[in-house]
Amino acid sequence: MEKIEVSNFKGSLNPMPDLLVSCRGVNGDVNALAVAYAGNCSYAPPMVMVGIVPSRHSYNMIKETGEFVVNLVPENLREKYAYLGSISRRDEDKLAKAEMKHEKGVKVDAPILLDCPVNIECTVVDSIVTGSHEMFIGKVEYIHADENLVDENGNIDYSKINLLKFR
Ligand SMILES: Cc1cc2nc3c(=O)[nH]c(=O)nc-3n(C[C@H](O)[C@H](O)[C@H](O)COP(=O)(O)O)c2cc1C
Repeated sequence: MEKIEVSNFKGSLNPMPDLLVSCRGVNGDVNALAVAYAGNCSYAPPMVMVGIVPSRHSYNMIKETGEFVVNLVPENLREKYAYLGSISRRDEDKLAKAEMKHEKGVKVDAPILLDCPVNIECTVVDSIVTGSHEMFIGKVEYIHADENLVDENGNIDYSKINLLKFR
């Protein structure tokens, strides 16, 4: 098989994760947006990074509070994911409209989304403007998981989650 050059570099790595990043503004407003530019970036200490475009309403909320929650998304939330990833909190209270149940985190004020099987509470330790996105490096402070997903050693069995593959 011959190789040919690919000219479209947008999102070269695949698959991309389909995550919901939730946050709470300094005024107490709650929000979540769809995020695909994200990944693990350290295991000692545990860190994850999420890439947020500065025009997102969530960008200001995370910048001001230094906190966010990464929520893994199951396939059955596909429609709500599409909604949270296309409408801005500037225009609508998205979590209320989508009837997404949430509660305050244990270590952070940002909300955990209760319909998501895994919720990773993070505090921002650094950020890098990479271009279109600002990558927020989040120190993992606390992880919640549905009890049926956690084995006796405290590991999450990801094979039990029917994760959304949005595209
Ligand atoms: C599949 C998918 C992936 C997305 N990935 C990102 C992302 O990685 N970073 C980002 O800033 N926006 C991403 N978005 C767009 C935001 O989720 C969208 O603009 C959202 O409405 C912003 O909401 P907010 O203004 O309330 O923060 C994605 C949208 C979809 C549908």
